Amino acid sequence: MQISSFLAEELPQVAADAIVVSVWDKNDDGALELGPLADQINQLTSGLLKRLIDDGEVSTKSLACTRVYEPTGLRAKSLLVVGLGKPEAAEPGLAFRAAGAAAKTLADKQRRTVLFALDLEPQDELVAGAMVGSLGQDLYRKQRTLFPFESLMIVDGDPNLLMRGHVLGDAVNLTRRLVNAPANEIYPESFADICVEQGERCGFEVEVWDRERLEQENCGSLLAVAQGSAREPRLVIMRYQGAPLDHAPVGLVGKGVTFDSGGLSLKPSESMLDMKCDMAGAATVLGAMTALAQLQTPANVVGLVGLVENMISGTSYRLGDVIQARNGKTIEVHNTDAEGRMVLADVLDVALECDAQRLIDLATLTGACMVALGRSVAGGMTNDESWYADIAAAAKQCGEPIWQLPMFAEYGEHIRSSVADIKNVGDGRWGGAITAAKFLEEFVGNRPWVHIDIAGPSFNDKAPPWVDAGASGCFVRTIVQAIENLA
Ligand code: BES
Ligand code: MN
Ligand code: ZN
Repeated sequence: MQISSFLAEELPQVAADAIVVSVWDKNDDGALELGPLADQINQLTSGLLKRLIDDGEVSTKSLACTRVYEPTGLRAKSLLVVGLGKPEAAEPGLAFRAAGAAAKTLADKQRRTVLFALDLEPQDELVAGAMVGSLGQDLYRKQRTLFPFESLMIVDGDPNLLMRGHVLGDAVNLTRRLVNAPANEIYPESFADICVEQGERCGFEVEVWDRERLEQENCGSLLAVAQGSAREPRLVIMRYQGAPLDHAPVGLVGKGVTFDSGGLSLKPSESMLDMKCDMAGAATVLGAMTALAQLQTPANVVGLVGLVENMISGTSYRLGDVIQARNGKTIEVHNTDAEGRMVLADVLDVALECDAQRLIDLATLTGACMVALGRSVAGGMTNDESWYADIAAAAKQCGEPIWQLPMFAEYGEHIRSSVADIKNVGDGRWGGAITAAKFLEEFVGNRPWVHIDIAGPSFNDKAPPWVDAGASGCFVRTIVQAIENLA
């Protein structure tokens, strides 16, 4: 999608397939106020916009989209009015969502030029939202349902913000595309190849560990999960240097289970169907790396993804097996479907060795997190409240919901084993999101660490208004924002 700017004065002259305008709902005093651009469009159309709102033909409710065909006074074929809800209720992230909802509505057919004349900021979020909203999950259909615009024009666009929006939109869409692609296409080796490609395109170094190297490195825990699959595992280390070498890097760690059958603790079909999404953490790390490098963020970042396929076969790891992780701890396997933590155990240990002084991991780790928080909210867990506050602040800025779960020492008792140092599940299902995090905590040393369980928000069964169903690309923007905030 080509992104460019035009001047507000040119609004009546520019020929476009559609113009997008935004309208706030009545404020708490009952007054309807049009923003400057909506007011300009209202005047150009001889008061049409206001009349349609007054008549109830155009909704001002948050994210409502109404089309007005052939508006007189404009050289556009149609006007799309996106509601913003009450000004008092506006929250960060509204620009991304409103742009996404408008773009998704207009993406129903091929369009050349769409003008964005929204009374809403920031512009980078508008651009990113439009790029995400107009790209569908139907990667393999002859008859597409959504068509990205050829060209998007933003009124009085700031070149830096347009560029940032373009980079973020591309990054979120890369993550979405990888998560939406099925496991016969995205497997450890092909995912690692894409990391290499992206490193060359965006400017970060990529190191790939194959099975042999993983064996030399004693990554027993990751290898145990991988051993049931015909696909060989990979661990990818991506290094972006945007600051002097003596600045310690932030470590981003992603769960990259390219398919999770559950292994011998086999999942039933309904639960297995969407398990191509189980590499969303790794795809989020890769997406964030591409954005950070392209934006030349003044920070050092090391991204690590553990790539395996969790399969059932004669070579699968078994219940009761005792595995030694890279950091020396022994793990008794109680459930082969609790594989994400087995993979992350070794990847986190490698991150420590890469000198990451602060860690964030992203993982579609537990169904229990969705039971606790619902489908659209990520679970946050930490060993360091101040590092968590930084991440939560960035998530708030981006409008990506996350809610903290406690890490009381008591939960650590649930993963004690009578034969090994720890076991890979808690006692029963209670507190499953937290006992999983307690397991991970065993592998982060004493470094500040935030674990983000994205099992819910990374993949939407039902489409929200601003993006197609399927992969959401959640937390790419938050991670980039968090690292920019540090720099
Ligand atoms: N990948 C799943 C978690 C998941 C479930 C992600 C639904 C997205 C949607 C994970 O590997 C898993 O199977 N977790 C188990 C853990 C249990 C065996 C302790 C779960 O949540 O049931
Ligand atoms: Mn599993
Ligand atoms: Zn899994």
